Amino acid sequence: MNKPTYYITTPIYYSSGKLHIGHCYTTVICDAIARFKRMDGYDVFYLTGTDEHGQKVQQKAEAAGVTPKQFVDVLHEQIVDLWKVLNISYDKFIRTTDDYHEKTVQKIYEKLLANGDIYKSTYEGWYCTPCESFWTETQLVDGKCPDCGREVKLQKEESYFFRLGKYQDKLLKFYEENPEFISPKSRMNEMINNFIKPGLKDLCISRTTFDWGVKLPFDTKHVAYVWVDALTNYITALGYLQEDQTLFDKFWPADLHMVGKEIVRFHTIIWPALLMALDLPLPKKVYGHGWLLFGNDKMSKSKGNVVDPTTLANRYGADVIRYYLLREIPFGSDGNYTNEALLTRTNADLVNDLGNLVSRTTAMITQYFGGTVPQPNVYTDLDKELVSLCEGTLDKVRKDMEALSAPDALSDIFRIIQRANKYIDETMPWTLNKNGEKDRLATVMYVLTECIRFAATMLVPFIPDTAGRIFEKIGLPLPTDFSELDRFGKIGKGVMVHKGDNLFDRIDVDKELKELDKLAADEQTPEKTDSQSEVIAIEDFAKIKLTTAKVLSCERVAKSDKLLVMKLQVGDEIRQVVSGIAQYYTPEYMIGKTVVLVSNLKPAKIRGVESNGMILCAADGKKVVFVTPEKEMESGKEVR
Ligand code: ME8
Repeated sequence: MNKPTYYITTPIYYSSGKLHIGHCYTTVICDAIARFKRMDGYDVFYLTGTDEHGQKVQQKAEAAGVTPKQFVDVLHEQIVDLWKVLNISYDKFIRTTDDYHEKTVQKIYEKLLANGDIYKSTYEGWYCTPCESFWTETQLVDGKCPDCGREVKLQKEESYFFRLGKYQDKLLKFYEENPEFISPKSRMNEMINNFIKPGLKDLCISRTTFDWGVKLPFDTKHVAYVWVDALTNYITALGYLQEDQTLFDKFWPADLHMVGKEIVRFHTIIWPALLMALDLPLPKKVYGHGWLLFGNDKMSKSKGNVVDPTTLANRYGADVIRYYLLREIPFGSDGNYTNEALLTRTNADLVNDLGNLVSRTTAMITQYFGGTVPQPNVYTDLDKELVSLCEGTLDKVRKDMEALSAPDALSDIFRIIQRANKYIDETMPWTLNKNGEKDRLATVMYVLTECIRFAATMLVPFIPDTAGRIFEKIGLPLPTDFSELDRFGKIGKGVMVHKGDNLFDRIDVDKELKELDKLAADEQTPEKTDSQSEVIAIEDFAKIKLTTAKVLSCERVAKSDKLLVMKLQVGDEIRQVVSGIAQYYTPEYMIGKTVVLVSNLKPAKIRGVESNGMILCAADGKKVVFVTPEKEMESGKEVR
């Protein structure tokens, strides 16, 4: 029999900066849902990826003096590494710079044009580059972006428009017929009252003032609006309009697009309208989760209150972070992130409740029964209470997960753990042992091991590493589904426990808080990257060829306020180099200066201009100064 399918997506992450723990929230929740559904008999496809085009990326790359592709390649790697650290079980990772995606976006634009859904006009209005979103004058709040509160720029350019207005009534009708489409419900009202009822304007879907994007096949001066490019990832990743559409036929429409609340608008207005225009079925649900706040601010790198998730995961283990994100933040609402809450939650639930139950049980079985789980005798009423608690929990957890509420699911699973700990205190196995009541002791040990088996099986989707370690400790294979939870009493004869190390070590909260503060202060040093804190060998340094060079000529790069293009004398050779220092130096000032050139850097095109090397600069986040020899030095000399 074919399994039912389940297609779940995260948004694709902007490749414009390092991800913080708030970003991990969406991905970890989706991971728990995807793992739960897989264990519950679904054929799951879990998609995530990176959103790599757009003005924001181009500007950041220019400022860093690298090409946008070089820039996003580094971030892509960091993001993939972070998901590895957090044990994210996605089935596919899409990059919007993947060739198949770019080609399909072009086909989608052609299709929209052919269907009469696109026309050319002039866009005049406001643009928020960090959010990559267009706003009308009346939508601005105090002249700033209503979503992120940052500066917006007045934009006037020739653009293609999508006839979004045409879909206003169809969208309202769809919402009415599918009341579950936008969740939680409050977000549906927000979309209707704030965006649809005031009147949907046609949407500008191409840009001409920069070129880092998918070129429109019918007018190559235009690149696709980054949100159209990004949203279509959900279907291009499945092979839509490509040679092999098997995945698309199997998994579309998506069962769930999980997104942060600030991007519900894109997913519930623009995305369904685009799908209607393409004559495709609409996703079944868009869930807009709340934000992780940090001192009442949405956590974001630009606000400088970032806690690095890799640091946390390396320090405490991925499951500590996963558990905290899944358990602590009421689903759908905002939640405040504090290091203290992370550490106290870990001590209370993972160290005390779960860790203690497993270590006490395995220690007692080792001490009283030489490590073999004994078979039970007759169950008392007290035992039966635990049996029915275990047997009744999966249905509850399933309902919690249907409602997408990981905190409820975890609190139901932990009810077994807490009840089992209390059962130890009630049955006092040490007294049973002292009194020689071996039969009763055997039953108690068996009931405890079964409770652990039930809880750990249901914990697999949430804290997979820990669940795996628990199964090793209780000597059972790691379950891949919930089928063995049909009945209490399935542990057979001869199963051996292995106590080993504690699952989690108790955290000294005061000490750790100080350490984390110190680490956060180090991490806040502007734009410090992991690679900068790594130590390299002298041979690594020797690979970089640094050379003195004299600036012969210098001018601004057309249409860029950040870039200068220079001709450099490097010994006998003349080199052209593009550098992102136009905001700090005029072309006139640069002429005649001696700079230090990374002369064996792979040539690249920046804004379409060939760049053959990179000049060294010092930067502190506010200003940038180029590096120059302390005394006069000819060009072409080695710097070491
Ligand atoms: O929006 N708390 O990407 P993104 C909770 N590229 N969630 C947070 C958060 C916080 N403090 N900060 C960010 C984009 N997120 C687009 C998506 S999809 C076609 C294009 C969540 O990197 C955010 O809500 O800014 C979103 O769900 C995800 O991180 C990626 O955000």
